[in-house]
Amino acid sequence: MALRVDVPLFAEAAGADRTYPIIIDAEAQAEERFAAELAARAPGARVGLVTDTTVARLHLPRFSAALAARQIAVTPVVVPDGETSKSLARAEEVAEAWARGGLDRGAVAVALGGGVVGDLGGFVASIYLRGIPYVQVPTTLLAQVDSSVGGKTGVNLPSGKNLAGTFYQPLFVYADITTLQTLGARDRAAGLAEVIKHGAIADVSLLELIEGRAAAARAGDPALIAELVARSCTIKARVVAADERETSGTRALLNFGHTVGHALESASHAEPTTDPRNDPRNDPGNDQDPLRHGEAVALGMLAAARVGVALGAGDATLEARLEALFAAVGLPTDLDRRLNAEVLARVAVDKKRAHGGLGFVVVERVGSAHLERIQVAQLSDVLLGTKAR
Ligand SMILES: NC(=O)c1ccc[n+]([C@@H]2O[C@H](COP(=O)([O-])OP(=O)(O)OC[C@H]3O[C@@H](n4cnc5c(N)ncnc54)[C@H](O)[C@@H]3O)[C@@H](O)[C@H]2O)c1
Ligand SMILES: [Zn+2]
Repeated sequence: MALRVDVPLFAEAAGADRTYPIIIDAEAQAEERFAAELAARAPGARVGLVTDTTVARLHLPRFSAALAARQIAVTPVVVPDGETSKSLARAEEVAEAWARGGLDRGAVAVALGGGVVGDLGGFVASIYLRGIPYVQVPTTLLAQVDSSVGGKTGVNLPSGKNLAGTFYQPLFVYADITTLQTLGARDRAAGLAEVIKHGAIADVSLLELIEGRAAAARAGDPALIAELVARSCTIKARVVAADERETSGTRALLNFGHTVGHALESASHAEPTTDPRNDPRNDPGNDQDPLRHGEAVALGMLAAARVGVALGAGDATLEARLEALFAAVGLPTDLDRRLNAEVLARVAVDKKRAHGGLGFVVVERVGSAHLERIQVAQLSDVLLGTKAR
């Protein structure tokens, strides 16, 4: 049986009582039920499909076949695998391919892939012919628990990530859990980090569930993963519904672990620093770089837990509890080895972008969080302490 989460559509987009579904399907041949859902919700529509080279090889054939079996015409566009496909140039290519394929306002866009394809496909859907309906079929755990919920679409600019985009809600989301069987262990663990984040900020029983079944979560047990996806989506949908356009601050709670996490993530992608002693990539045995987003967020959550305690507001048991859980599900815990002045300097750069204060999420006890303002200097004192001197 498929699970289902109903996500509210927003008052400005529709009637306040309207919702769209996230369907979570852990059984074989989910593509056939997906095609049936599409045919029911958009009768007679042609499909403009976006995917990437890896997902096209692994999963596109069965989805194409299922759509063809229902006489649904598909114009597929396959973009290169990876973050560089989130560009305006690639968005133009996708839109142009749909135009050449003759897709009109009656068409539906389908994004089959991870967060990159979802963000790109949703963005193009929101501007093509001033907007056509779109459907997400997320194929990474990160996309299923995080990026496919909340309606943020977008591409990167040379100046930075996600600097051009729209808020655009899908017709429905179809999470086929079986697609995750082809995902690597590190990508699965990275997705689990965002699930753990949702538990830490909003639902202690979700955290307890992963703690109790860490080995099964790590191994990708389909029934467990389906439940984690459903519960994660429920939490994210609730938070987003309270603050669709990130104006009241509620949505910022989803950034738990991301302040330091982003800095660690970009540091792990950067060229080696001039001081080799400050660079974890020079450690023998470090094969973790660059960090996956979720891995960096896991380390960022450890940092945030420590800072919360230093501010006198955080849960004193959280850092050790998260560290044990990360070790059990295959996420990194080497925060102290990675923290250095260069990483903190990257936090300061992010802070400038956020014009003024640095919003910092503090979990006061597992399942409940709030936002505090903090200075970068304060952060650096707590995190580097004696190490800085
Ligand atoms: N819109 C949002 O709210 C939101 C939230 C979080 C993240 N994001 C965005 O999501 C992106 C990251 O998403 P991601 O981690 O899914 O990255 P991704 O889409 O690049 O996927 C990661 C890799 O996995 C491959 N892949 C995808 N599905 C697979 C499968 N089933 N089997 C094997 N390989 C598969 C992809 O080809 C890619 O190489 C970032 O661009 C980030 O900005 C958006
Ligand atoms: Zn994240």
